[in-house]
Amino acid sequence: STPVSDSGADRGLWSSRLAFILAATGSAVGLGNIWKFPYVTGENGGGAFVIVYLICIAVLGIPIMMAEVFVGRNGRHNPITSMRLVAERNLKSPLWRVSAIVGMIAAFAILSFYSVIGGWAASYIGHAAQGDFTGGTADSIGELFGGLLASPGQLLIWHTVFMALVILVVSRGLKGGLERAATILMPALFLLLIVAVGYATTTGHFGEAVDFLFTPDFGALSINGVLIALGHAFFTLSLGMAIMMAYGSYLGRDVSIARTAVSVAFMDTVVALMAGLAIFPVVFANGLEAGAGPGLIFQTLPLAFGNMPMGGLFGTLFFVLLLFAAWTSGISLLEPVVEWVEERTSLARSGSAILVGVLCWALGIASILSLNVWSDVAPLDMFARFEGKTIFDLLDFFTANVLLPLSGLLTAIFVGWFVAKESLMRDLNLEGVGFSLWYNLIRFVTPVAVIIVFVYNLTA
Ligand code: PHE
Ligand code: NA
Repeated sequence: STPVSDSGADRGLWSSRLAFILAATGSAVGLGNIWKFPYVTGENGGGAFVIVYLICIAVLGIPIMMAEVFVGRNGRHNPITSMRLVAERNLKSPLWRVSAIVGMIAAFAILSFYSVIGGWAASYIGHAAQGDFTGGTADSIGELFGGLLASPGQLLIWHTVFMALVILVVSRGLKGGLERAATILMPALFLLLIVAVGYATTTGHFGEAVDFLFTPDFGALSINGVLIALGHAFFTLSLGMAIMMAYGSYLGRDVSIARTAVSVAFMDTVVALMAGLAIFPVVFANGLEAGAGPGLIFQTLPLAFGNMPMGGLFGTLFFVLLLFAAWTSGISLLEPVVEWVEERTSLARSGSAILVGVLCWALGIASILSLNVWSDVAPLDMFARFEGKTIFDLLDFFTANVLLPLSGLLTAIFVGWFVAKESLMRDLNLEGVGFSLWYNLIRFVTPVAVIIVFVYNLTA
């Protein structure tokens, strides 16, 4: 079987705790922060939702992130091998590696369509910079977005550009690739976000956005809102995709997993709140509807930027920010599978990255065609639950609602119930109340919370 190096020094380590935090935050900060969080917050009671969300991050997000990083650092291999090694060291069944397999399948499938959306962001940089939104109307901008989605050729070009950017970074390995990208792109992203919030304060509608996001309205917070907060805590921290296991496998022994996980969750939340403060003043200043998802980012915002002073410049900056957020997430989605191929085959790092990236790119073509040529193809049409859902919709649904919670649940149960307590205390560098708190959360609270979200999402 595979030789085990305990120090991990021979396979490379992040140069510092900060490098790991930036890379993990790069994974966490993505479309979830920018197009989902601000919207669901405004819709579900503002500050009331933020409070519930923060509780979910604390009881579900941070404990699972710690468990995933623990497995990666204890195993010091790709997620599947790490799970097997940790299980064997605890005299448990190697079958526990199923949690990593499920997570890696999810990562691969998600990247295939995430890259298509990342491509939209890349193409919008050019539109904003060329002034294509200037003086635009809802119709003209709707046409531009509709035209992009209707064109397999354009989508393919931008999907290819995005995937090439991801492969380029991952093929260069840990220090020259992942770490370099994170240490350049993340500070740039924070800077752009600060500029965007600054610009938003000049719209005269900043206070309205602050109200929308923060005024607690517990009446507007339903059970549904609480479940959304639970599910979002999972997705926003990139859990259940073996990502934190892969990134944890390069983490130095001396780094505190608990403190690091808290830092990543904190930064992810700060970015989500700042994104809301950057976006909603612009939306309200133009009397637009604060919808969610692709419409908000690719139609509402361009319309707003097209009709504001210096909107061309700030629109361009905004889409650069979005591309950076998607790029660092894309890198993290490719890494787990590449780490596995690199360790299990004779391919080197670059060959592994190209092989996995190209396969994922090919799968992405199905999502591209779902938007146009195959928009009527609904493979699971025979089930009422999936009627009319395209391949793109189905990939999104099954990864987010089945694979991620399943992988997260298995990891939480494995780490909470099947790993020796002493080994956890030593590796997590926790003792006393801190350890008991985490241990009770991961054993009892987290699994129950994940099961609730799981059942709710499948039946709702
Ligand atoms: N965590 C990202 C977000 O909040 C989404 C993501 C999921 C990124 C999976 C990478 C992998 O947008
Ligand atoms: Na996030």
